[in-house]
Amino acid sequence: MHVRKCTRPSIVVLLLHMIPLFRAESQPPNIVFILADDFGWNDVGYHNSEIKTPNLDALSATGVRLENYYVQPLCTPSRNQLMTGRYQIHTGMQHQIIWPCQPYCVPLEEKLLPQLLRQAGYDTHMVGKWHLGMYRKDCLPTRRGFDSFFGYLTGSEDYFSHVRCHPLPSKLTRCALDLRDGEEIATGYEGQYSTELLTEKVVKIISNQDPRKPAFLYVALQAVHSPLQVPERYMAPYAFIEDPRRRLYAGMVSAMDEAVGNITAALRETGLWNNTVLVFSTDNGGQTLSGGSNWPLRGRKVSLWEGGVRGVAFVASPLLQRPGTVSRELLHVSDWLPTLVGLAGGTLNGTKPLDGFNVWKTISHGSASPRVELLHNIDPLFVDMGACPGGGEGSSREDRRWSSLGFNISVHAAIRYSNWKLLTGYPGCAVWFPRPGGPNSTRAGALKPVMLFDVESDPEERAEVSDSHPSVVEFLLRRLNHHQKTALPIVFPEEDPRCDPGPTGAWGPWA
Ligand SMILES: *[C@@H]1O[C@H](CO)[C@@H](O)[C@H](O)[C@H]1NC(C)=O
Ligand SMILES: *[C@@H]1O[C@H](CO)[C@@H](O)[C@H](O)[C@H]1NC(C)=O
Ligand SMILES: *[C@@H]1O[C@H](CO)[C@@H](O)[C@H](O)[C@H]1NC(C)=O
Ligand SMILES: *[C@@H]1O[C@H](CO)[C@@H](O)[C@H](O)[C@H]1NC(C)=O
Ligand SMILES: *[C@@H]1O[C@H](CO)[C@@H](O)[C@H](O)[C@H]1NC(C)=O
Repeated sequence: MHVRKCTRPSIVVLLLHMIPLFRAESQPPNIVFILADDFGWNDVGYHNSEIKTPNLDALSATGVRLENYYVQPLCTPSRNQLMTGRYQIHTGMQHQIIWPCQPYCVPLEEKLLPQLLRQAGYDTHMVGKWHLGMYRKDCLPTRRGFDSFFGYLTGSEDYFSHVRCHPLPSKLTRCALDLRDGEEIATGYEGQYSTELLTEKVVKIISNQDPRKPAFLYVALQAVHSPLQVPERYMAPYAFIEDPRRRLYAGMVSAMDEAVGNITAALRETGLWNNTVLVFSTDNGGQTLSGGSNWPLRGRKVSLWEGGVRGVAFVASPLLQRPGTVSRELLHVSDWLPTLVGLAGGTLNGTKPLDGFNVWKTISHGSASPRVELLHNIDPLFVDMGACPGGGEGSSREDRRWSSLGFNISVHAAIRYSNWKLLTGYPGCAVWFPRPGGPNSTRAGALKPVMLFDVESDPEERAEVSDSHPSVVEFLLRRLNHHQKTALPIVFPEEDPRCDPGPTGAWGPWA
């Protein structure tokens, strides 16, 4: 049968009407990435029924929960790897975080996730915490791929005043605003609770989004990092918690859960949801000094124990092939860049050699992870941060058995291969912090300079097995040595006195 074009104009009209529909269906998905701050393993409802997170529980129950997923033990490093798809040793940022007065940022020659998504035709918006450097304007989110930015540049601040206090190199403690809309200082938000303020901004972006263009929303919530602050009403369900810090923290988690509920409601109301992939992830383990808990995992934020690096995360999307499943495949925060750029139909052209893998098939279809190895970190300058109650000090003992393999086992490092995890040097606070409200328990015993755990069968890192598996130890030390040879020199500059915003200014670029 021939379509008689000239005599059947109605078909042409009909086809023209259908074009936007076809385009809508083939349009790459919206990507919403919600990053929680210092959110611990034991702090989500589906790991701990004492904590009320109905939105996170329901979203993840109809999505894919990632239960063998890793992040870096600190804020800047996880964000750095999310944005670059590369290990910290490959950006020179293997040590600590960027402090407010340090003159450096993620190297400008790195091509960041929002740049790649923008190149793939996305609108790119960021709301929340940057913490990837800001000493000069070229380092700001708006110069690194985001069309818009509303949020703060340093690592933490007051939830209501949006003021950050930090000692200057002169030792004077400076308290100044850290809140920006684009590159401009944002005033007039004093008193608005950060979790609600940031959510309001995200909801506005969603309402204004042109549905014919795919969007990338990076929502880096302040919650639930210290200081412990939350409007009273969020603490109401937690009157039974005796420890006041834990009670405040639990309230902050509830506010964050409500934020995620509001964001997904806005996506549904605008009709964007049916073509959206939402990722929820923490940036590192919980900080036990500030109400967080990683029970029953060992250690906490900053450490390379599982409590520092095994992260809460899930993906929710109508586009998942196997919704309502739990993934136990090995995944890492550096995997998001190739995964999300792949979903966007974009190209990785211009990136430096990636350490991340495209893991969409693993998440969506349940296939085996392409990742068998994970370098947690190598940081020769490591020093612990915060008091560690009876936590087992690093061993300064030499262990001659391993000296011929080339890797300095006094160096703070950890690597995962399949079920095995090897740690060297002092991994950070080694305590098994007790379950909140439960009886106090274990002190960590003396540590060895080289420690091996089968974290598949022993996720609590209780049975150290290096003596019975010397060939595994040797293999992993060789792998560490191999990685260390590819490391860039550490960049961790002295604080620059010119960072001082003065008594009335705001933290921001000074160079
Ligand atoms: C969620 O939305 C409700 C209704 O607009 C609002 O009252 C509440 O403050 C919002 N919660 C957060 C955390 O933004
Ligand atoms: C997505 O939602 C819009 C608006 O509700 C609807 O028109 C469209 O058919 C939906 N697309 C799919 C693939 O479900
Ligand atoms: C990759 O980028 C370079 C430099 O921007 C360009 O010359 C080249 O054509 C690009 N290649 C592909 C496959 O897009
Ligand atoms: C091994 O690493 C430790 C800790 O970083 C350092 O103090 C020591 O000098 C290093 N030893 C050698 C031989 O490089
Ligand atoms: C547990 O230890 C902490 C700090 O040492 C102490 O404040 C608390 O009272 C102890 N709790 C119990 C149940 O022993």
